[in-house]
Amino acid sequence: MQSWVDSIHARARTRLGSGRVASYIPALAQQDPERLGIAVYTNAGELYSAGDAGVPFSIQSIAKVLLLTLALRTHGEALWQRVGLNPSGMPFNSLAQLEAERGKPRNPFINAGAIVVTDRLVGSFATPDKHLQDVARRLSGNVSILIDAEVLASEWQHRSRNAAAAYLMKAFGNLDNEVDEVLRTYFSCCALSMSCSDLSVALNFLAADGHARATGERFVSPGMTRRINSIMSTCGLYDAAGDFAYRVGLPAKSGVGGGIVAVVPGRMTVCAWSPALDESGNSVAAQYALELFAEELDAHPQEA
Ligand code: DON
Repeated sequence: MQSWVDSIHARARTRLGSGRVASYIPALAQQDPERLGIAVYTNAGELYSAGDAGVPFSIQSIAKVLLLTLALRTHGEALWQRVGLNPSGMPFNSLAQLEAERGKPRNPFINAGAIVVTDRLVGSFATPDKHLQDVARRLSGNVSILIDAEVLASEWQHRSRNAAAAYLMKAFGNLDNEVDEVLRTYFSCCALSMSCSDLSVALNFLAADGHARATGERFVSPGMTRRINSIMSTCGLYDAAGDFAYRVGLPAKSGVGGGIVAVVPGRMTVCAWSPALDESGNSVAAQYALELFAEELDAHPQEA
């Protein structure tokens, strides 16, 4: 497995130089586009990594997976009265569809959907962002995971579009709490800094029927695990989810920090990170690394 990971890293490096680092918030625009990391965590508890796999980066929309998981744990199926379950076919920050569909976002992985999910958590926890940070620490076994204050401040300062979505949903009665509090909590969760290694370990419960190896607990039920993986398959890479499904074929979630986590149910989780993004907001080199990884899985169906 280590030789797979090393070889994938070497081949994916050829994609460095394509794409552009996210520029809509200044703190992300400073990222080095030459970074590339990959980490694989098997259900047997073995971690394999290459390149910048240990470097913390802004997880951004990957936080939406943890937000959704916590909201399903606390609210169950009632969550789906607030947010839909279908791909949007629109950019992740689009407002047009939200207006047409009366403030009910298409799915929990576009920004509007994650804001609604965060609103549910604001109603359930005193400090949902701290709770999410604590969950990320426990699931990854890394107690030094932090919320990046500079990224949070930067996103708050440039919040107009997310604020527009939140106010629109509030006007339609789909947000119970104050817009500012919900947005601040959502940005804070997106501003978590984690490495490829951290993320591959933390999200391994999705490959292991909901069982979290680091804490020894069943974090969610097998059925809920299957449902979360399904939403990742259909909506995890926004309007590029179909392309990614064809090329990689694994449930996955991306973020504008350049990370992508993918799940191989029953076997392992893999996280690739490189900051330069394509037009859809997905990392160019990380997508390619995961495509190469899927080819290795085809070639070695029994491994791990
Ligand atoms: O709300 C935002 O715009 C960011 N905090 C998250 C966006 C994001 O990561 C979309 N991902 N590809």
